[in-house]
Amino acid sequence: MTPIPYLDLSRGRRRFESALAERWRRVLEANAYVLGEEVRTFESAFADYLGAARVVGVANGTDALTLALRALGVGPGDEVLVPAFSFFATAEAVVLAGGRPIFCDVDESTYNLDPEDAAARWTPRTVGVVGVHLYGRPFDAESLAALASRQGGFLLEDAAQAQGARRRGRRVGTLGALAAWSFYPTKNLGAFGDAGAVSGPDAALVERVHRLANHGQTSRYHHVEIGTNSRLDSLQAAVLNLKLAALDDDNASRRELAALYRERLAGVGDLRFPADDPADEPVYHQLTIATAERDALQKFLAERGIGSSVHYPSPLHRQPALAALLPEPPELPRAERAAREVLCLPMFPELEPAEVEAVASAVADFFAGGARS
Ligand SMILES: Cc1ncc(COP(=O)(O)O)c(C=O)c1O
Repeated sequence: MTPIPYLDLSRGRRRFESALAERWRRVLEANAYVLGEEVRTFESAFADYLGAARVVGVANGTDALTLALRALGVGPGDEVLVPAFSFFATAEAVVLAGGRPIFCDVDESTYNLDPEDAAARWTPRTVGVVGVHLYGRPFDAESLAALASRQGGFLLEDAAQAQGARRRGRRVGTLGALAAWSFYPTKNLGAFGDAGAVSGPDAALVERVHRLANHGQTSRYHHVEIGTNSRLDSLQAAVLNLKLAALDDDNASRRELAALYRERLAGVGDLRFPADDPADEPVYHQLTIATAERDALQKFLAERGIGSSVHYPSPLHRQPALAALLPEPPELPRAERAAREVLCLPMFPELEPAEVEAVASAVADFFAGGARS
């Protein structure tokens, strides 16, 4: 059987290579490598695409989260609620900004932060909550925004995995006080290196991020606060400008492939798919299934040349670096179960429907007893 990769970045790269060569030549000729024309073009195009007041490019998604938290005023002793099931950077950024991450459980049917659990963990020291649109599926922004506003705190969106997704008709990235983006190469909108951005409905707040990302500088060599160096470079912005124009089509391809997976795998074994809310538009950054036999299934697929990946094998409160900050391990049974059971199958816009059919029939074989033969 021909191997089916979990992710093949070459297929995507080939689509953009020749147009990019021309754009990169212009950047090189202008000697404008950092915060040049391509960056300004991208910031305004992405703001238009989202319907956000302002977007500012930064060096990567981790910086986007950290700088957004700093701009929102997070400081020593401040508690920030985060889902216990996400990529490490969601909680790491809280610590980098000087705050304390408080882990909340996730909703079993979406893997996103459970607003009721978040409400129960809000204390007088809590200053805000970070929701993550995990796997490209929008979280319940209305409930979390209502909780934040009731408590006088902020809602920050970690939108790293959800470029182009819509919640109740609105683009994610416009639902909280600020949103942090990663354009790591594997993302739905991916650069050819590290890149990130912060967006938001309040242009002045996003400008604050811009200042922090550029050494706290208000004019040349005049620094009013300690910032950092986290700027988007022009070569990466040129990639993002090209790829932004293709994002909606690419996301539509992902949704079609996801529908095919769902159809072919309906009723197979104990497989569960995350719930899709018909009022939302997820963008399938990952195609995620869950089964009690996850590890055996992954091994079975690997033996047949089919790639898959576990996002994520450990909940955040079990990560040594974060566990060390906790007085005692919190009870987060749904995040624990997700970490034991989820498996991400091949999903990228250039994946062929025939490859999805082949992956689905291998999964079905596993549950039909192939694993035990
Ligand atoms: C949910 C989430 N948050 C934050 C990040 C951090 O982004 P970056 O790798 O660009 O620093 C990522 C991606 O890697 C992510 O998936």
